[in-house]
Amino acid sequence: MEVVVVESPEDIGASVASMVIGLLERRPAAVLGLAAGDSQVPVYEALIEAYRRGEVSFAEASAVTLDEYVGLPPGHSQSYRQSLIDAFVRRVDLPVSSLYTPDVHAADLGAACAEFEAQIARLGGVDLQLLGIGANGHIGFNEPGSSLASRTRVTALHPRTRDDNARFFANVDEVPYHVVTQGVGTVLDARHAVLIASGEHKREAVAAMVEGPVTASLPASALQLNPHATVVIDEASAAGLQQTEYHRFAHDHEPPGQQD
Ligand code: GLP
Repeated sequence: MEVVVVESPEDIGASVASMVIGLLERRPAAVLGLAAGDSQVPVYEALIEAYRRGEVSFAEASAVTLDEYVGLPPGHSQSYRQSLIDAFVRRVDLPVSSLYTPDVHAADLGAACAEFEAQIARLGGVDLQLLGIGANGHIGFNEPGSSLASRTRVTALHPRTRDDNARFFANVDEVPYHVVTQGVGTVLDARHAVLIASGEHKREAVAAMVEGPVTASLPASALQLNPHATVVIDEASAAGLQQTEYHRFAHDHEPPGQQD
């Protein structure tokens, strides 16, 4: 696991955007895994700016989403599909038809989750999966206790996550109880997993993810098992780490020829 500590969320955006741009230069038809959430915003803003400067094209790329609420009407502004379309997809040249999301309106949600996994397989797997981390250590909507081998499935939100996400809704009662999420095992299959965290409220979860044991009690710690995982965090969310100096040293002395 590579840990990159930068000063601010804007620096996170620049750092992760350069990884995405580098990937698309090498592989224009790359498959991106998109995540919703505040921490991703600087990345999408930096990518939109780079697209407007003519430095990157998404025309041949595809994208899949990480997670989604169940029970919101189609097109609801807080649906992750819709918010990703509004905040990113429509502002670059990625065709909306190349954005793949699980059908959370299907009568048979289990079949819809299996079809989403099959779609990822048909695309050849995810090249770069963006991730955030919940204050309780969740990734996607894999709450504490999620199997490290889990695949895309429907699951219930933790009350703390409903409270955390209530800020996006009129009140906590409007936050859905159920979600579809890529499983921890699905995320571990991504060829490059890039987790972003910013803010003091993430410091305990970040420290446990990077320096604690691998445990289903803190699903983000499973990223230690992905051979190519990069954690890009600001100073505030890195404050609980013991090995910050080493992480900086290792980042400044990357082995030659190492690609993002
Ligand atoms: C949410 C979402 C995740 C997101 C994470 C962090 O509950 N399920 O996809 O990455 O929590 O969100 P934020 O970036 O807003 O802190």
